[in-house]
Amino acid sequence: MPTLNLGFLASHGGSNMQAIINACKSGQVDANPCVVISNNSDSQALHRAKNEGIPYYHISTATHADGVDDAMIEAFEKHNVDVIILAGYMKKLGDKVINRFKGKILNIHPALLPKYGGKGMYGKFVHEAVLMAGEKVSGPTVHIVDIVYDHGRILAQKEVPVYPDDNVDTLSARVLEQEHILYPETIQKIANGEIVL
Ligand code: GRF
Repeated sequence: MPTLNLGFLASHGGSNMQAIINACKSGQVDANPCVVISNNSDSQALHRAKNEGIPYYHISTATHADGVDDAMIEAFEKHNVDVIILAGYMKKLGDKVINRFKGKILNIHPALLPKYGGKGMYGKFVHEAVLMAGEKVSGPTVHIVDIVYDHGRILAQKEVPVYPDDNVDTLSARVLEQEHILYPETIQKIANGEIVL
């Protein structure tokens, strides 16, 4: 099987992206991180790309007012990307990009979808909702991106306990730790054909 070429979209820290890059470098994941795109010129994700020697682009409505989607598609195609990895990308992806890479775009969400997903459910809002509902378990979900927020086919999930004295910070840290394991594992299953996109 040819090596899977990965393209990343990230807005801020990019810790999931880094976990995947590390797993590729160690051989745990048989894939090539090829390009990183961020809407945020000062994102840690772009700094990480630079440190890793991975080509990176700042693409946003500020830089490409007349065509964010086209600019993204051009960059992903230039680097022969097979699968797009959303890693904390805070913008809604354009329909044009979703259609061009239909079924080949992954996202990680910090709760057990289909619960606690949808518009407005991101970052601390997700964990707040989980805590408010008194859930006993939470955990990340890797899913395919389609035109509806947090809606596409679920590929993998990992449960973590929610403790009575948890707050948003303790719960999000526990979930994020598992994200860093689940995302590379899932990409490897795609790379070895165990999961077919
Ligand atoms: C993670 O919590 C992920 O679930 C969500 O965005 C966050 C990204 O964190 N989609 P990082 O940028 O990978 O550190």
